[in-house]
Amino acid sequence: MKIILSIMIAMFIIGCSEDAAKQEKAPVAEEAVVKEAVEVAQAVKEVVAVEKIAQVEEAVAEKVAEVTADGALLYSKCAGCHGAKGEKAALGKSAVIGNWSVAQLEDALNGYKDGSYGGAMKGLMLGQVKDLDAAKITAIAEYIAKQ
Ligand code: HEC
Repeated sequence: MKIILSIMIAMFIIGCSEDAAKQEKAPVAEEAVVKEAVEVAQAVKEVVAVEKIAQVEEAVAEKVAEVTADGALLYSKCAGCHGAKGEKAALGKSAVIGNWSVAQLEDALNGYKDGSYGGAMKGLMLGQVKDLDAAKITAIAEYIAKQ
């Protein structure tokens, strides 16, 4: 930000001195200097506004990523079948996953997603994981492994 402002100010000063030189020949140049100053001020304002918007967007994106990749929050929809700590055999069919490692959980979840893993009820698990991206799968796996 400071660099951009310095450049704008430097450009303004250079612009002014050029205009001052011209002014000796043509007095009407004063009007042009004022016009240019207004334009530069407007440009500075726009740069500041764009930077502020970018900062806010970045902060929002960070917060969204934080919230959506929250393992505890994501696991809440799994807990009904697998138990709050992954201690249940889901629907009496699945393995107990509470004591699995992060890698084991990620492999199973990615496998359900691409169809390369699972038993008779893998279709049900596909529905559970199909909308989860890699970051969310890792967040859930880390959460379950900690229980
Ligand atoms: C409606 C009940 C239900 C929900 C909700 C559910 N699961 Fe499952 N899960 C199952 C069943 C049934 C299986 C066994 C599927 C099969 O035949 O492979 C399973 C299997 C698994 C396995 C592999 C265990 C094994 O036996 O190989 C993991 C890991 C798993 N689920 C994690 C999750 C996660 C994470 C969520 C939430 C995103 C979730 N499940 C949501 C019912 C459920």
